[in-house]
Amino acid sequence: MCGIIGYVGPKRATPILLEGLKRLEYRGYDSAGVAVGLPGSLTVVKKTGKIAALRSVTPKELPGNWGIGHTRWATHGGVNDVNAHPHLDSSGKIAVVHNGIIENYRTLRGMLEHDGVVFKSDTDSEVIPNLIARYFEGDLEAAVKAALNHLEGTYGIAVVHADRPGEIVGARNGSPLVIGIGEGEMLLASDVTAMIAHTKQVVYLNDGEVVFIDAEGYRTTDRDDQPVRKQVDEVTWELNHIEKGDYPCYMEKEIFEQPESIARALSGRIERDIATAKLGGLNLDRRHLREVNRVRIIAAGTSWHAGLVGASLLESVARIPAQAELASELRYRNPVVEKDSLWFAVSQSGETADTLYAMREIKRKGGTVLGICNVVGSTIARESDGGVYVHSGPEIAVASTKAFTSQLAAFYLFTLFEARMRDLSQEEGKRFVEALESVPAAVAKVLAGRDEIQRIGKKYSKARDFLFLGRGLMYPIALEGALKLKEISYIHAEGYASGEIKHGPIALVSEEVPSVFIVPNDGLREKNISNMREIKARGGPIIAVGVEGDEEVASIADDFIATPRMDPRFYPFTMVVPLQLLAYFCALDLGRDVDQPRNLAKSVTVE
Ligand code: F6R
Repeated sequence: MCGIIGYVGPKRATPILLEGLKRLEYRGYDSAGVAVGLPGSLTVVKKTGKIAALRSVTPKELPGNWGIGHTRWATHGGVNDVNAHPHLDSSGKIAVVHNGIIENYRTLRGMLEHDGVVFKSDTDSEVIPNLIARYFEGDLEAAVKAALNHLEGTYGIAVVHADRPGEIVGARNGSPLVIGIGEGEMLLASDVTAMIAHTKQVVYLNDGEVVFIDAEGYRTTDRDDQPVRKQVDEVTWELNHIEKGDYPCYMEKEIFEQPESIARALSGRIERDIATAKLGGLNLDRRHLREVNRVRIIAAGTSWHAGLVGASLLESVARIPAQAELASELRYRNPVVEKDSLWFAVSQSGETADTLYAMREIKRKGGTVLGICNVVGSTIARESDGGVYVHSGPEIAVASTKAFTSQLAAFYLFTLFEARMRDLSQEEGKRFVEALESVPAAVAKVLAGRDEIQRIGKKYSKARDFLFLGRGLMYPIALEGALKLKEISYIHAEGYASGEIKHGPIALVSEEVPSVFIVPNDGLREKNISNMREIKARGGPIIAVGVEGDEEVASIADDFIATPRMDPRFYPFTMVVPLQLLAYFCALDLGRDVDQPRNLAKSVTVE
């Protein structure tokens, strides 16, 4: 949430800051700004709206070769130019960009106002430059450290001072910050995507660390000024992975990448001869993994839906009791952390505050937590005891698609591994492996049906409400379908277990409310068909996502989306894809901003 970028080096800073902000825009996009330094003064430009709006008001030839920038997702204070970052201290010499929430800002603001500071914005962030100003006696790093002692809450910050040309100070507590090491230039950002065009050498900061950078290099310390040695990591992906290519938007690109991204998640992780999975990053010995008596999964949003599928699979295939819970709820419940439970924190970004804080609480109670993350080097990936990277590649569209199916792949691999240590025979294991390896091609086949799904999307895009219904493994898929539709099209949608509709939601059914039924040919097909007939009898239109050749389901439905016949345990992969496309085409038809839907941001680093 909120994107931060800083640059110092021989080049003009402004184009680099604007380009970096453009790449960070998915983290928040209600306003943006830059502060660029010339010795003795800072030029600050801020604008409500997206980076294009900021670009249009930023002078083309703005001089200055060091500066900071920010793209905002508002927490405190409305969306307007004044509340946009960077914020200045009252002398106008110090500029700060901030990601996070300063919880004690009212107290600090009162104290500073008492000393004569006049605040311009309604944000919590504006206290930071004014606190730094209070301690500044020529050494910016020392002043930042002194100010940090007063802050309660979360922050990733970057700070510049007009009288300290070519210097940027950054600090992290709860909001990500990464240093980029260039040739004679240095960068600082909340995420590597912002600097990949300039360098692949990066250093991830941990909570409590402070960094000083100038064009020559960097030094990292803790808040007590003790040096901290850091490891330099190499980013392994290329710039073209974060570009749209020939696609009109990232979401479409990411949906269509799924055959390759799922294959990547599986790649090198299957031992065919003994029909099991090989997950090198778990960092746990076999005995520990054999003695796990319960799996508990924490996550948010789409990642939680992947966790629900994972839990169901672990229970039915590996016969391990498993539950998936919302991290935001679990954290405040004082959870019991049993000795023989294994926990998973699932997060595409690896930065989601709710999941991260829940994970820390479980670890504090002695629990073992594995991460299932996409972003390499993210906080959850680094703080977990081990885990699985899903390798879907950068996911830029705010609505998660390819990361979801890759998270599923990680759960299928882990389930296979556990099941083969328990009761799954080699023969059954082989069937599981064959079915898993067939998933990328099956997903490609579903994607080939895009035109038909586009037609259906257009037909129903004017509906005000939708129901998504499924049973068993398809219940989380129904939840995911409803979430995708509402977040990008703004059509109200509810996901329900099909068996629950008669307990209330059926009251919503009318000619105006389409129901999307997810009906694989599994043991629950007949039950689903009965539920479809109940809806039909009440005049509700039905879109069914079913299996090719299922004439009965097709004949009850008004519209039928056929997917390939699979081993029933693997339908979550193939049946979620038409729902992603349905949401996408409805949103497109309504003219929505599919990649950056209103009020949302990609990486939710506030609670
Ligand atoms: C929905 C979506 C969100 C995220 C949620 C968790 O499309 O993207 O619901 O799934 O914010 O994010 P991560 O997986 O980064 O922890």
